Amino acid sequence: MVEAGSIAELLASATDVTTIDSAGKSGARLERVSIGGEPHVVKYLDPSTDWTMRAAGVDGSATLELWRRGILARLPASINQPIVGIAHEDGVTALLMRDVGDWLVPVAGDVVPLDQHLRFLDHMADMHATFWQTSDDIDVVSNRTRYLELSPHTAEREAALGSTHHVPPLIGQGWPLLAEVAPTAAAIVSPLAIDPTPLVDALSGTPETLVHGNWKLDNLGSDPDLNTILLDWELPGRGPALSDLAWYLSINCRRLPQSKEDAIDAYREALERHGIGTEPWWSRQLRLCLLGALVQFGWEKAFAGYDDELAWWERHAVEAAELL
Ligand SMILES: Nc1ncnc2c1ncn2[C@@H]1O[C@H](COP(=O)(O)OP(=O)(O)O)[C@@H](O)[C@H]1O
Ligand SMILES: [Mg+2]
Repeated sequence: MVEAGSIAELLASATDVTTIDSAGKSGARLERVSIGGEPHVVKYLDPSTDWTMRAAGVDGSATLELWRRGILARLPASINQPIVGIAHEDGVTALLMRDVGDWLVPVAGDVVPLDQHLRFLDHMADMHATFWQTSDDIDVVSNRTRYLELSPHTAEREAALGSTHHVPPLIGQGWPLLAEVAPTAAAIVSPLAIDPTPLVDALSGTPETLVHGNWKLDNLGSDPDLNTILLDWELPGRGPALSDLAWYLSINCRRLPQSKEDAIDAYREALERHGIGTEPWWSRQLRLCLLGALVQFGWEKAFAGYDDELAWWERHAVEAAELL
């Protein structure tokens, strides 16, 4: 589908508009609408109200860029992304999506079924394999920006803007807390959360692909054909495949049905099944991306204190620090 000339044009045939009380964290406005009798959802991406867009730092929106470059149209069949139309007007991007609400992972916080989790890893690998080392123009959000999204800088910038979002102040509180509860981890990752250059440099030279940047269970689902619904394309771009995997393991840690080690093995087998060899780069990229996930989530892990979860990430950060 082509980009609509205006938001009014995009929504010209929409009826029965209602506001959705969103479970999302970005602050984006969502509406349910009907188009030709079919339920749809409209998401308004507005950097003046959405801190995640400000953190992604893409002019317009990352999703708009993916759409304009035809990247969403080149996703493998195993990825069901529901956007069917888009319009950009006065700095706001409106996404018209099929309503896939019935098929999303419930937000309840339960452990996700093993077969569904393994499918997510398989389809993540399929997507990565599809764009492996591609010469296509997939440089939308940079690796560096992904490592800075949850930085103390974000908390400071949002405070300076007088933002009322829930997450940025927590980021600001969590980083100093990490230094108290896990000083060894903090000594490695806190400086990188302010300037990730050594991490980004250490990763360069390992293979890259299109990463989505937010494989959180709240953004995922399984449609009736068992393809993976993937929402929330606000941090995509060229990056190391294992950064998507590490983010998935970190943000979904309380809901995974297998150990992180087993999930990592399952993803690796899936990537090989999709035709990508994993030598000689695997070990280096994995270690750095596990460290990178703590650069993204150290602040958040700190709130639970020094538990097994934080100890696991700290161990892996220590192991990877010698690669920097
Ligand atoms: N196409 C869609 N169909 C049904 N529900 C949706 C759709 N897009 C978003 N939602 C609902 O809105 C929530 C927030 O949308 P999302 O794009 O993930 O925004 P955020 O950036 O705020 O996380 C999702 O977790 C989901 O519950
Ligand atoms: Mg979301």
